[in-house]
Amino acid sequence: MNAVDYTGVVETVAIRVDADIVEARRRLRTLTQSLSYSSAELAMVATAISELARNILTYAQTGEIVLSVIDDHRRVGVRVVARDEGPGIVDVDLALKDGYSSSQGLGLGLPGSRRLVDEFEIESEVGVGTTVRLTKWASGGAASWAAR
Ligand SMILES: Nc1ncnc2c1ncn2[C@@H]1O[C@H](COP(=O)(O)OP(=O)(O)O)[C@@H](O)[C@H]1O
Ligand SMILES: [Mg+2]
Repeated sequence: MNAVDYTGVVETVAIRVDADIVEARRRLRTLTQSLSYSSAELAMVATAISELARNILTYAQTGEIVLSVIDDHRRVGVRVVARDEGPGIVDVDLALKDGYSSSQGLGLGLPGSRRLVDEFEIESEVGVGTTVRLTKWASGGAASWAAR
């Protein structure tokens, strides 16, 4: 197999300006080269990364996205951690509702991202910051893992 195996690799992308969102998506594509993601699955994670990075820029100004390739011996996938030390979210349940926005946005970034991935959690504290963690497994599953 000539694809580079990125399992275990962790990449951190600082999010400060719009171009950093493009960079985070580029790193995602590189990291997932050796995974059995379909192009649809890759697009789902890329979309979630864009939404979380956009939220960092809009609400916290700066933060970071950490990407890692994970492997639980049955499946391979990507874990994304988006974190900032911004204002935090007062009501996380409300922020996860379709259409809720404190900024005249569409209010679909968080709930939409949640639907696109397999695992999704938010930890947020007012005045401290926000951390969103998500996981997306490659549907190729065990078969594709064994074939690597
Ligand atoms: N990183 C963040 N820091 C602070 N507040 C956030 C952050 N991400 C999301 N929020 C809050 O959650 C709400 C919902 O986010 P989202 O679903 O992406 O919708 P939108 O960005 O269109 O408002 C935002 O309006 C904002 O109030
Ligand atoms: Mg948003």
